[in-house]
Amino acid sequence: MTPEEYADWIEAGRLLFAGPVDFERGVPSMEFLPDEGTPEVAFAGRSNVGKSSLINALTGRNKLARASTEPGRTRELNFFRMGERLRLVDLPGYGYAKAPKAEIGRWTALTRDYLRGRSTLKRVVLLIDGRHGLKPDDKDVMDALDKAAVTYQLVLTKADKVKPTEIEALVAATKDAIAKRPAAHPEIVATSSETGLGIDVLRAEIAALA
Ligand code: GTP
Ligand code: MG
Repeated sequence: MTPEEYADWIEAGRLLFAGPVDFERGVPSMEFLPDEGTPEVAFAGRSNVGKSSLINALTGRNKLARASTEPGRTRELNFFRMGERLRLVDLPGYGYAKAPKAEIGRWTALTRDYLRGRSTLKRVVLLIDGRHGLKPDDKDVMDALDKAAVTYQLVLTKADKVKPTEIEALVAATKDAIAKRPAAHPEIVATSSETGLGIDVLRAEIAALA
């Protein structure tokens, strides 16, 4: 990209996210999914990695998605509508969560079914904790997405908690780790929902899909 093209790309992201965003519905099981039609971008990752916080940072709306210090906050598929152009989907996390086992099983199965079988799902934003890097259950999710041919983009979260040199090293190592994965988008974005790092780039990445 030339500097002018880059500026236009960033501006397209800014414009999309400056527009309307509304909570559409919370989906507790597959029969309540909204009609397919509008393109969707879903946010997946381990419990507590920062999915709901990232949606709030992207949309500049503090309380749109419910975030919490307690892993297992998001328990339904939460759909947010950006006019006619796009839906953002806040997914329940996987891995450890502070919730009854049966409920965790229910929302994990729901998330898996949604990720595998949604025709309007344009991309999964797969969040990885910038302090810890890829974990075995992240690899399992990537395996499933590769198999289902669902494109995903890795985003490192909580970059404000680690040194810039460390986050750069993690971006490089993670790039190497996904190089041979067929459905992985090659660009990895380091973000912080606290400082706003990387948010403009991620907005642009998402706007390019709308
Ligand atoms: P579940 O819905 O439980 O799967 O979690 P989630 O992935 O939606 O995480 P959530 O956004 O609720 O954030 C979990 C915790 O991490 C909260 O205490 C947030 O304030 C914190 N957090 C999220 N993003 C960041 C970040 O960029 N920097 C810092 N320092 N903390 C963050
Ligand atoms: Mg959440």
